[in-house]
Amino acid sequence: MAEVSTHALKLSGKISIITGGASGIGEATARLFASNGAFVVIADIQDELGQKVSNSIGPQHCTYFHCDISCEDDVISLINFTIEKYARLDIMFSNAGIVSTCKQTVLDLDLTQFDKLFAINTRGTAACVKHAARAMVNQRVKGSIICTTSVAASKGASMRTDYVMSKHAVLGLVRSASNQLGVYGIRVNCVSPSAVVTGLSNRSPEEIEKTMKVYEGLSSLKGVRLSVEDVAEAVVFLASDSSKFVTRHELVVDGGLTKLPDEDDVKMYNC
Ligand SMILES: NC(=O)c1ccc[n+]([C@@H]2O[C@H](COP(=O)([O-])OP(=O)(O)OC[C@H]3O[C@@H](n4cnc5c(N)ncnc54)[C@H](O)[C@@H]3O)[C@@H](O)[C@H]2O)c1
Repeated sequence: MAEVSTHALKLSGKISIITGGASGIGEATARLFASNGAFVVIADIQDELGQKVSNSIGPQHCTYFHCDISCEDDVISLINFTIEKYARLDIMFSNAGIVSTCKQTVLDLDLTQFDKLFAINTRGTAACVKHAARAMVNQRVKGSIICTTSVAASKGASMRTDYVMSKHAVLGLVRSASNQLGVYGIRVNCVSPSAVVTGLSNRSPEEIEKTMKVYEGLSSLKGVRLSVEDVAEAVVFLASDSSKFVTRHELVVDGGLTKLPDEDDVKMYNC
């Protein structure tokens, strides 16, 4: 009788980059990628933390590289570093992002902060997709590109207009890039989580707990709270050959969220 492996490595030997991999969703995905046999380059601006995460995963499977995704030259260096080290790029998880600390309704948009956020969430993500795709095309790699969008990528909200707009734009990038890169066999998808506890918003534990309860109330699924590991599982699916016929897809991980909270006192959490 053939031996059945209980833990098939879904990403065996795959070379991957994870932006924003020093913390939150990116960190959890780096760990899950590595445990599924991938080699991971964590790209972040939090050097100490990124190096610590990389060390804890282990030098055989993970490296840290400083990269500010809002700087195109940094993104080019990141891709060059990965190709020099591993000779190939199979997976780009373009995940780094920020939120504004101020409310940002359309009436009080702080356009300086708006530009800063767009430089990372939208322009930075576009640079990562552009240069990863170029490397894959040059090397004839039928790779997988995944972006982190959000449930806010297709819904309006009562605040954080800049963030909501930036994620709508990334969804447009995913739809266009998948259309343009399919001819090379490159798949482009995104994962859209609802609220999950990470370092994204500098809120107190009490505020976070209150907000998570609100989101739980709005989800169809009861008795389950979204974790960063749940998001990482969705990313592994999109990165692996299990999804080899899936492209242009927005994989929403929201427990059946019916609507975004819209009262000011509820406060829209990270998403
Ligand atoms: N946490 C949520 O509720 C939630 C929900 C939906 C979508 N998201 C999205 O998930 C992604 C990951 O966020 P998270 O929640 O894990 O937060 P996080 O703050 O824990 O992680 C974000 C990481 O991105 C890094 N980063 C920030 N600016 C960068 C830059 N210019 N260049 C490189 N790295 C940079 C940070 O240093 C950090 O390590 C973001 O795109 C966010 O918008 C988060």
